[in-house]
Amino acid sequence: MKSANDKNVRIGIVGIGNMGTGHAKLFLENKVPGAMLAAICDINPDKMKSFADVPKYTDSDTMLREAKLDAVVVATPHYGHTTIGIAALKAGLHVLVEKPISVHKADAQRLIDTKRTKKQVFAAMFNQRTDPRYRWLKQHIDSGDFGRINRINWIITDWFRSQAYYDHGDWRATWEGEGGGVLLNQCPHQLDLMQWLFGMPVAVRAFCQRALPRYRGGR
Ligand SMILES: NC(=O)c1ccc[n+]([C@@H]2O[C@H](COP(=O)([O-])OP(=O)(O)OC[C@H]3O[C@@H](n4cnc5c(N)ncnc54)[C@H](O)[C@@H]3O)[C@@H](O)[C@H]2O)c1
Repeated sequence: MKSANDKNVRIGIVGIGNMGTGHAKLFLENKVPGAMLAAICDINPDKMKSFADVPKYTDSDTMLREAKLDAVVVATPHYGHTTIGIAALKAGLHVLVEKPISVHKADAQRLIDTKRTKKQVFAAMFNQRTDPRYRWLKQHIDSGDFGRINRINWIITDWFRSQAYYDHGDWRATWEGEGGGVLLNQCPHQLDLMQWLFGMPVAVRAFCQRALPRYRGGR
């Protein structure tokens, strides 16, 4: 644990890819008051090359044991979230897990159920909740400005991901690497926003369609 003189929360990040690198930079640029980047970990050492002065590990268990951390951010591909999250919670650390917290419901439950002290904070990274539009909406819903909301229709059309995005990581959009598709990757943000803003639904009706049928096969 941190020394008596060090008031900053000592953060370790597991997974230094897109998200992990972004998180790490925020700490190094002192954009997170009261926290410092104490260690980073990636199974691929090349990913950590640009972080010259930060202690580096290629094995998360070793980092959890040796880096004297207070808290861990887990930013590996999805499947690692459960195992690394559980290990960090069992080590007594605060844990922030990138979405989705797990691929399977049973794993999510195992992660959530991992015994922790009352002081330990465990959270999932739903950064859309910091978007000013949604904060504005939340404030007005909670204050009752819109009255009672009986029905919602939530449509998101601007979260298209190009082939370059899927090519970026060999784990992306594969059953082995990701365990599912859009529902597991982009959609958790929308599902989270919906229940954060409007509460849990009483009933859900779903439709599924592949692309736009009238464009399939040309004209
Ligand atoms: N909150 C958001 O808006 C948001 C946005 C993008 C991605 N994400 C989530 O962040 C996670 C990572 O996505 P990304 O785009 O950064 O992926 P990425 O492929 O760019 O990075 C993942 C990194 O984890 C490393 N890694 C894999 N297994 C590891 C292990 N066992 N221990 C240590 N390092 C390991 C890989 O080498 C890689 O560098 C995904 O679960 C994704 O859903 C969240």
